[in-house]
Amino acid sequence: MTSKLAVVTGASSGIGEAFCCALAQRGYDLAICARRKDRLLMLAQSLHETQGIVCHPFVADLAQPAGVDTLLADVESLSRPVDLLINNAGFGSYGAFHRLPIEREVAMIDLNVRALVALTGAMLPTMLARGQGAIIQIASTTSFQPVPYMAVYAATKAFVLSFSEAIAQECRQTGVRVLTICPGHTPTEFQLVSGVNERPVRTASQTAKDVVREALTALERGRDTLVVTGLPNRITTQAPRLIPRRWMGRMIERAFRPRVRDR
Ligand SMILES: NC(=O)c1ccc[n+]([C@@H]2O[C@H](COP(=O)([O-])OP(=O)(O)OC[C@H]3O[C@@H](n4cnc5c(N)ncnc54)[C@H](OP(=O)(O)O)[C@@H]3O)[C@@H](O)[C@H]2O)c1
Repeated sequence: MTSKLAVVTGASSGIGEAFCCALAQRGYDLAICARRKDRLLMLAQSLHETQGIVCHPFVADLAQPAGVDTLLADVESLSRPVDLLINNAGFGSYGAFHRLPIEREVAMIDLNVRALVALTGAMLPTMLARGQGAIIQIASTTSFQPVPYMAVYAATKAFVLSFSEAIAQECRQTGVRVLTICPGHTPTEFQLVSGVNERPVRTASQTAKDVVREALTALERGRDTLVVTGLPNRITTQAPRLIPRRWMGRMIERAFRPRVRDR
């Protein structure tokens, strides 16, 4: 019997890398994507040696439409159906919107939103035609309410949640699953890239491995379309349902307000 094939974006570190390790342990072959070739090559070799799986490293900048096309062509060249797509690549930024470089904010939308929709749109029809397959979309606990000082990032993740829950319902009874995962604070390179470590209030934390374990357990159970990982995160994401929106906005503004004045 041939192994299943999973495509994982943002595989060179953090949650994406943890997904690759967990899927390799389950016997999946992998097509892994990110910009850092050295990291991808090292991971592919290590998973091949330790788990005996086939792992194809594909370098692409998914914030560029051409990068998405390159990845799709690379995956197509494998001549194998994709059983699982994990749209994980993403980054954030931290600071008052008007002070952040606008080009980077727009690139964030291109990666977190555009690439995710494009890859989903390219792979979903084949999954539907086969009547099997799954897509995991990585959203965030920031998907549930506006987040001052992470305004664009939280908006991209609200998009991911809304879009993915909608298509999950469209795909009901087709044999294809769409599962949205909302992690909260997870120590990875995300904090360094986004600069969010500088915010004054810290929340409960989970490891990337824990996030992935909950995600794959939910995928295998086959029931949920949305998983907020970690009990503290499940509780805090309920707050917008109970607290008036204006109060909620002020509370989050205070919690996220940068210590450094000019941010
Ligand atoms: N960590 C958290 O607290 C947290 C919480 C909620 C949600 N999330 C979400 O979880 C996902 C994974 O983040 P993480 O925490 O694992 O962060 P991470 O360690 O920084 O990993 C991000 C991954 O995305 C890749 N990436 C970034 N820009 C890219 C681009 N233009 N094209 C292709 N790949 C790109 C990075 O690889 P290269 O740099 O090599 O390209 C890296 O592999 C993201 O969608 C993030 O928003 C994270």
